[in-house]
Amino acid sequence: MADTTAQANIGVVGLAVMGSNLARNLASREGNRVAVYNRTWERTEGVVEAFPDAEFIPARTMEEFAASLKKPRAAIIMVKAGRPTDAVIEELTRVFEPGDIIVDGGNALFTDTIRREKAVRETGINFVGAGISGGEEGALKGPSIMPGGSAEAWETLGPIFRSIAAIAEGEPCVTHVGTDGAGHFVKMIHNGIEYADMQLIAEAYDLIRRGTGKSPAEIAEIFAEWNKGELESYLIEITAEVLRQVDAETGKPLVDVILDQAGAKGTGAWTVQTALDLGIPVSGIAEAVFARSLSSKPAQRAAASNLPGPAEEWTVDDPEGFIEDVRQALYASKIVAYSQGFDEIVAGAEQYGWDIKKGEIAKIWRGGCIIRAQFLNRITEAYEDDPGLVALLTAPYFRRALTEAEPAWRRVVIAAVQGGIPSPAFSSSLAYYDGLRADRLPAALVQGQRDFFGAHTYRRVDKEGTFHTLWSGDRSEVAATDTH
Ligand code: 6PG
Repeated sequence: MADTTAQANIGVVGLAVMGSNLARNLASREGNRVAVYNRTWERTEGVVEAFPDAEFIPARTMEEFAASLKKPRAAIIMVKAGRPTDAVIEELTRVFEPGDIIVDGGNALFTDTIRREKAVRETGINFVGAGISGGEEGALKGPSIMPGGSAEAWETLGPIFRSIAAIAEGEPCVTHVGTDGAGHFVKMIHNGIEYADMQLIAEAYDLIRRGTGKSPAEIAEIFAEWNKGELESYLIEITAEVLRQVDAETGKPLVDVILDQAGAKGTGAWTVQTALDLGIPVSGIAEAVFARSLSSKPAQRAAASNLPGPAEEWTVDDPEGFIEDVRQALYASKIVAYSQGFDEIVAGAEQYGWDIKKGEIAKIWRGGCIIRAQFLNRITEAYEDDPGLVALLTAPYFRRALTEAEPAWRRVVIAAVQGGIPSPAFSSSLAYYDGLRADRLPAALVQGQRDFFGAHTYRRVDKEGTFHTLWSGDRSEVAATDTH
């Protein structure tokens, strides 16, 4: 019979790899005693036996699990998002009491978290949606943690999360992001930026490979070199590793035997769907999501494969110069993607009433998470210098970086178009940059078209008011307030 005296200060429900790694991380930190529960007892037994030093407190039932936790009880759910999570929430609300804390550590859609937090709060129990980034290794060694939920819950969870989070520049990569779904919202943005980052790196690889004929192994060394400069990041680092990998079976570069159809669990799509609702252009993230969708349309790709492209085989005259151009274009496009991601955070905070500190988010993304990078220090500095920054890419540091990179960026997009090389994230980021800095946009014509067919009215540059032209009449402009 399990020792039912309440000894654990934190519990984990769901002991697949992520859950058991997180439990091991928690147990390895001074001051934590961890209760564990899994739907199948055998799994729980296996984890307890495999890691005796963790001194886990196993529970066969939810009742035992609750009894082993000191009050206010706190449990982290690490099961699949959706119905499995709802089922565990239901079980925990049955055995927990007012003041206790239920944490959903999965990748839940933030609107689900808002709904769940409201429902659970009616029982007096705290519900916290916490983004946990860094994959299985991060869960074990130190993730970046993005919890939402109440201040009351944060009081208990803060020290526990700080004890297991990654450390960057001497600080734990965790902050109380905001109330109810704020944590899962910011995790969603993290994933959207992750998609954009990965797509940009993939396009850089494709351009260099097809433009210079270099092998994956040679391009791996280029990325390894780039990882020593302003592009230093986990994703650049692992890209070099992936490109170095040789397939044991065929002896070919692994990247050449991987089927070129990308999967997605959906968090990138959520970022784009939410951005559309919020009216925030996230072109780099959107193109990254669509590039994965396009890659997974084999029938259409086969049917389109003989459509004409550039006449001659594309190669670049100055390979080394082109590679440097691609490096600069990658950095500039990355700046745009992060700027767009932070724009969505600002808009989401406004829409949902969250007080999200952008500088704090940049700080906790410096370590532990998939997009961790030196670059996040620059974003932290930009928001520390000017918390009300109207667009990240206009901060002095990024303005300088874009000014330096702009010529190369254009050369790369031109080369990609001439070479027939798809570069949706590079080119959409440049188009966004040009759109944002343009003093006049063709939106004026769009307004005219809308007024012509739908009488949707337009404003003028030279006077207040809204106007409608009587297109079918003498076309004399009529102030909309006077239209008959
Ligand atoms: C993280 C990752 C993770 C992500 C998976 C799958 O922060 O640790 O973002 O949460 O969900 O890597 O992502 P996709 O299948 O959507 O690419």
